[in-house]
Amino acid sequence: MGPKITYSPEQDIADLNGKVFFITGGTAGIGRLTILELAKHNASHIHFTGRNKKSADSLIAEVGQIAPNVGITFYECDQTSFLSIENVAKSFLSSNPTRLDVLICNAGIMGGAPGLSKDGYEIQFGINFLSHALLTKRFIPLLERTASEQGEARIINVSSSAYEMQKGGLPFEDLKTTQGDLGMFGQWARYGQSKFAQILYTAELAKRHPTITSIAIHPSVVWTGIIEELPFLDRLFIKAATWGQKMPLHQGAYNECWAATTPRKESIQSGSLYYPVGVKTELTKPAADEKLWAELWDWTEKQLEGSHA
Ligand SMILES: NC(=O)c1ccc[n+]([C@@H]2O[C@H](COP(=O)([O-])OP(=O)(O)OC[C@H]3O[C@@H](n4cnc5c(N)ncnc54)[C@H](OP(=O)(O)O)[C@@H]3O)[C@@H](O)[C@H]2O)c1
Repeated sequence: MGPKITYSPEQDIADLNGKVFFITGGTAGIGRLTILELAKHNASHIHFTGRNKKSADSLIAEVGQIAPNVGITFYECDQTSFLSIENVAKSFLSSNPTRLDVLICNAGIMGGAPGLSKDGYEIQFGINFLSHALLTKRFIPLLERTASEQGEARIINVSSSAYEMQKGGLPFEDLKTTQGDLGMFGQWARYGQSKFAQILYTAELAKRHPTITSIAIHPSVVWTGIIEELPFLDRLFIKAATWGQKMPLHQGAYNECWAATTPRKESIQSGSLYYPVGVKTELTKPAADEKLWAELWDWTEKQLEGSHA
């Protein structure tokens, strides 16, 4: 049994008419569930990414059935590659969008063997954090314009409670290696590190771009493909580590839906972290280190300079 949830999308999401959403990793799991809720509530247009075109097509068909007036566009994207992110950003921005209300950085991987992204970064760090930092950077001008013209724009970084595993700073000098020497639980340490970075980056985003509302969330513990596709021992580890937190699949996207749609004035504080559903949560001591936020920001800017703008 997971946490007691009183949130209900049917009652708690207002009509989203006019609003434009962009979500990474919409082809499966929490991202897909979130898109279906946004569509049911009359979003104006939902843009989404992923690698799996077949899943994208089936989602587009499903949205067409439940909400034929909602615009929906898929961008094929491999987030191991800055070039792929740049292509998606160019493709979206070249359509001259007049607004982007909510960017949801949701795509992610968890665990797995040590590896490198196409740009040479630790694979989980590359996909979960760096690719989203790049997309965010490209979308900030439109988000700021939307905030000024529509009254608000929002960035949601889908992190994880696994960020709590990060007990110190970030090993900047090792992030361009596989970090394959972290021992028996190395895959979880690398996952936690990437999710830690998302939270720090969110806090610094809120400081540097105060007209945009930037928050991080832990969506929930829900057995989507990200867990189901892991080897048996890894699944066992997750079961033990998250005992009592697992939520039913249909509730797995509630926190992400809340984050994307709840009116700012009611409950959202930019720079903060929210656990399910809509519960503002204090950062761990290492994550509350403002010097580290700035250090990560500057390091990230340097990495993205080499990207293919
Ligand atoms: N499930 C949980 O219990 C849980 C808990 C805490 C945090 N989270 C976070 O929630 C987010 C969503 O997870 P989920 O449970 O919905 O996982 P999921 O079902 O595995 O979905 C992951 C999504 O990310 C996309 N993705 C993965 N690798 C990609 C790549 N290289 N390039 C582009 N897209 C990629 C996938 O699309 P394609 O396969 O089409 O590429 C898919 O749409 C993740 O950031 C995860 O860390 C999940």
